[in-house]
Amino acid sequence: MTNRDTGVALHYHRGTNHPDGSLMNSHHVWDPMNPPLPYKLYRDVESVPLALDGPPSELPAMTAISVNDGAAGVVRTPEFEALSRILHYSAGITKTLRRAGGPMAFRAAACTGALFHIELYMVCGDIPGLAAGVYHYDPDGSSLDLLRKGDYRSTVADAAGGEPGVAYAPASIVFTDVTWRNACKYQAREYRHAFWDCGTILANTLAVSAASGVPARVTAGFVDDSVSELLGLDPLRELPLAVVPLGASPDSTLPPRKTPHPLKFETVPISGHEIDFPAIREMHAASSLASYEEAESWRVNPPRSSMPAPAGRLTPLRSASEEETPMDSVESVILRRGSTRRFSRESISFTQLSTALERATRGVPADFLTPAGSALNDIYLLVNAVDGVAPGAYAFHRDRLALELLREGEFRAEAGLLGLGQALAADASVNIFLMCDLAPVLERFGNRGYRAAQLDASITAGRVYLASYAQRFGATGLTFFDDQVTDFFSPHAQGKSVMFMVSLGKRQRS
Ligand SMILES: Cc1cc2nc3c(=O)[nH]c(=O)nc-3n(C[C@H](O)[C@H](O)[C@H](O)COP(=O)(O)O)c2cc1C
Repeated sequence: MTNRDTGVALHYHRGTNHPDGSLMNSHHVWDPMNPPLPYKLYRDVESVPLALDGPPSELPAMTAISVNDGAAGVVRTPEFEALSRILHYSAGITKTLRRAGGPMAFRAAACTGALFHIELYMVCGDIPGLAAGVYHYDPDGSSLDLLRKGDYRSTVADAAGGEPGVAYAPASIVFTDVTWRNACKYQAREYRHAFWDCGTILANTLAVSAASGVPARVTAGFVDDSVSELLGLDPLRELPLAVVPLGASPDSTLPPRKTPHPLKFETVPISGHEIDFPAIREMHAASSLASYEEAESWRVNPPRSSMPAPAGRLTPLRSASEEETPMDSVESVILRRGSTRRFSRESISFTQLSTALERATRGVPADFLTPAGSALNDIYLLVNAVDGVAPGAYAFHRDRLALELLREGEFRAEAGLLGLGQALAADASVNIFLMCDLAPVLERFGNRGYRAAQLDASITAGRVYLASYAQRFGATGLTFFDDQVTDFFSPHAQGKSVMFMVSLGKRQRS
């Protein structure tokens, strides 16, 4: 089974469709009162507290979410304060609320089922305030666990097929997925969630890096086994998903590659029992890259969007001017973020929707998206209540910054059904669907293109989340009935699969 056997990705995707994918067990039950531990906790490890006393960043959130160039930024070697800020506002605990069942830790990014299955690691050379090493980020202790002393950046650079962004970066963050922490509820569909929930974190990582002036770019092409070995991951339980190099050292000479010895740290068990979902392991293995050459050749240009030329009525976006755009910092927006639990059915303005769309969809800086501004997903909207826009189904034309009307009508009931029967979708002002024509993407990138399509969608949607909170209305990711969404937007969306759904609107005050 190799990356080129792309039947595996299609089989996985169809098999995990709602409501009756063949890889899903309709009798699966899980105990919400007894979820797995939402952190990886190492025992007996030396740790370094994050340095979070530095000054806040200055770039407004709405500017930070629109950066699509991974080389943009002036801070070539970020200090430990900047790295700490990036980690904390990516995946840290941003507030603790008192709830009837006990204190509830809020994390910086949204996550399906609040199960928080994504872990972050840092691999760095000597940087101001932090010695070279391989570290695990512990959100619970707001610290870095030291796993290896010394400079192992060459191992990551080699794993990434010599990707220049990684090779010249003073530090890289590696994102991993502890599968059982989410599969306990969502079964084999977890592997989609891995990229969704990594993507909402990555949207924060990219925005906070941009706001801190630190160049950052998502690297999805790397030799999985080399990265796993470096971090000491249990390959049956924890999977590497993405690498984000931070900064760009002018010094391109990395120390020679060291062979990482096996790590022997003990971690606190996350759960009393675990169920194996072979479909997750198979999909990961079939989308893994095995050699430097494979990782190097992964960086090809993506296929062009399959969006047909507009045939319906076009409504050009009407974005806010620079002066009207909120100036709130990324950190303040992340601190106030929280997925909306009930929408009020009030409308948002077309300017608000336009601004969110225009800023969030300029393209993700990623190794699979060249030239800058490319995308793997098309965007469809189901408008329930947006001032000045007729309710109905729309396709968004990025190249023209305009919405094409596909079907006019009141579709709140249909929206609720598409969103897995949840009132949130019916009550939202607008539901946004990121949809991918998987065939050409898999043809170009192999099975790993599936990871890329999910990341492109989830990072873009994570940016839409931030744009909503920056403009002081609400948002939530939502789960969906796959084929019904495609049918709803067809014939326009025929052949496309939903990668992510995000719903926007005003929050219902209780
Ligand atoms: C990809 C994605 C899908 C989600 N799907 C749903 C959903 O179907 N229904 C729901 O009520 N919340 C959904 N959520 C919201 C999560 O439940 C929420 O993020 C989590 O409880 C953590 O809360 P917070 O985002 O307020 O920090 C989703 C979130 C994401 C990121």
